[in-house]
Amino acid sequence: MLLEIEDVHVHYGKIAALKGITIGVDEGEIVTLIGANGAGKTTTLKTISGLRPLSAGRITFDGQDISRMPGHKRVLAGIGQSPEGRGIFPGMTVEDNLFMGAYTRKGDVSKDLAQVYELFPRLAERKSQAGGTMSGGEQQMLAIGRALMTDPKVLLLDEPSMGLAPMMVQQIFSIIAEINRRGTTVLLVEQNAQQALQLAQRAYVLETGSIVKSAPAADLLDDPQVRAAYLGGDLGEDAKPTVGSSAAPAAGDPAEGDPVEGKG
Ligand SMILES: Nc1ncnc2c1ncn2[C@@H]1O[C@H](COP(=O)(O)OP(=O)(O)O)[C@@H](O)[C@H]1O
Ligand SMILES: [Mg+2]
Repeated sequence: MLLEIEDVHVHYGKIAALKGITIGVDEGEIVTLIGANGAGKTTTLKTISGLRPLSAGRITFDGQDISRMPGHKRVLAGIGQSPEGRGIFPGMTVEDNLFMGAYTRKGDVSKDLAQVYELFPRLAERKSQAGGTMSGGEQQMLAIGRALMTDPKVLLLDEPSMGLAPMMVQQIFSIIAEINRRGTTVLLVEQNAQQALQLAQRAYVLETGSIVKSAPAADLLDDPQVRAAYLGGDLGEDAKPTVGSSAAPAAGDPAEGDPVEGKG
């Protein structure tokens, strides 16, 4: 395993957010962690990247125990993260945002920049534009691009589809597939279970701080419990609205994901 999370517990004060979770990610895989709002998905990614301390358990990366390693060293070791809410620097240009991803690295990063621009032509077109003036989907591309500038072995993605229109979600997910084809391992956190399960090879289901299922992603697409809880219905029912489901594609502003043509 490239990345192993073993019996990890994380607390916010006295509240247990993760209650002994175990997750493994093999080199070359796309693994998804799905779960409802508040399940502990973001906490899991923050704990892997070193932004939250674990209160028990162990994280191993590339054969090394990183449980107590500071976050900036984990970045150098090869853990790249695109955070929930994107976290771009709104006043900085697209290109400077990308350089921020590489600031702890030594040496020439122009090759990585060229690769990011090849994956995201839209970012190349907009490289001198302020990050904050980009559309939601473009900002998501920027957040992923910035994480790629760290030259990660594993890319942690926290809800890249959040608030985006369905077409933009498709585009982001196909770029994630391409990033993986080029050799980067991916751990994808999503509320958009349908899309995530279609993209990933394996999946874990997180419920209130515990892993309740682990299986090949395709199996979970057919799993009645998973369908009822996360995919908005039973097999065979067509065009049923995804009431109360985490599969609803666009939670935020419906216009958010639309490319803003003619802007900037
Ligand atoms: N900074 C925080 N302080 C206190 N509790 C938090 C904090 N961040 C998250 N939590 C709690 O931890 C649990 C898991 O949150 P989170 O990891 O953000 O879930 P998810 O990403 O799956 O929506 C939730 O109950 C949430 O309220
Ligand atoms: Mg979250």
